[in-house]
Amino acid sequence: MNGKKKITIAIDGHSSCGKSTMAKDLARTIGYIYIDSGAMYRCCTLFAMRNGLIAEDGSIDESEFERRMPEIQVSFKLNEATGRPDTYLNGECVEQEIRTMEVSSHVSPVAALPFVRAAMTAQQQAMGREGGIVMDGRDIGTAVFPDAEMKVFVTASDEIRAQRRYDELVAKGQKADFDEVLANLRERDRIDSTREVAPLRQADDAYVLDNSHMSIPEQNQWLIELFDKLTS
Ligand code: CDP
Repeated sequence: MNGKKKITIAIDGHSSCGKSTMAKDLARTIGYIYIDSGAMYRCCTLFAMRNGLIAEDGSIDESEFERRMPEIQVSFKLNEATGRPDTYLNGECVEQEIRTMEVSSHVSPVAALPFVRAAMTAQQQAMGREGGIVMDGRDIGTAVFPDAEMKVFVTASDEIRAQRRYDELVAKGQKADFDEVLANLRERDRIDSTREVAPLRQADDAYVLDNSHMSIPEQNQWLIELFDKLTS
């Protein structure tokens, strides 16, 4: 790989299908930078929750949120202990806090707001200007980097995705209810796929990976083979 031009890799797909695990592993193997765009929308959501911009009933104070948008700066820093990047909101590590069910339950309506998308898309494009990145999300191959050289669209069955997310929450010691996790991911997929700005959809030139019945090593192998094919 040495000396070769570094490409841009976009990994999009449904919620909780293991995109971030595969994107992180791929980036580490090929020496690219990994960027979790979903973490950025989670940071916007956490900011809104902390600042009273989301009411009990889930309604969002859009005009105040838009006014305060310039206050949100998201960055990533490698955690030496885990070997993976942690997410920072205005300099504070929020890696754990953005993964709670409470943030998950508000994130898709927040991510559907045009001013939130415009701000995050601009930050993502700035991070990926030089290539050499693997970015995962919903609209990376369609809206953020439509010219990405390698695009992957990942999916798996609802129940398998819910089980994976449930196991992940339990492993982290968080309270989780399988039916709630399943309902949350279905609802997020619905909102993500039907929103007006940059909805979740498969790019025409994306390679589809259904990893319902694949192990992590198998999916990593699939990605590396594709990467090698596209860069050889
Ligand atoms: O971890 P999971 O795949 O369930 O979600 P995530 O990647 O952390 O993304 C959280 C939410 O952010 C998604 O449900 C989308 O509503 C939103 N999102 C988005 O709109 N566009 C992206 N590029 C990434 C995430």
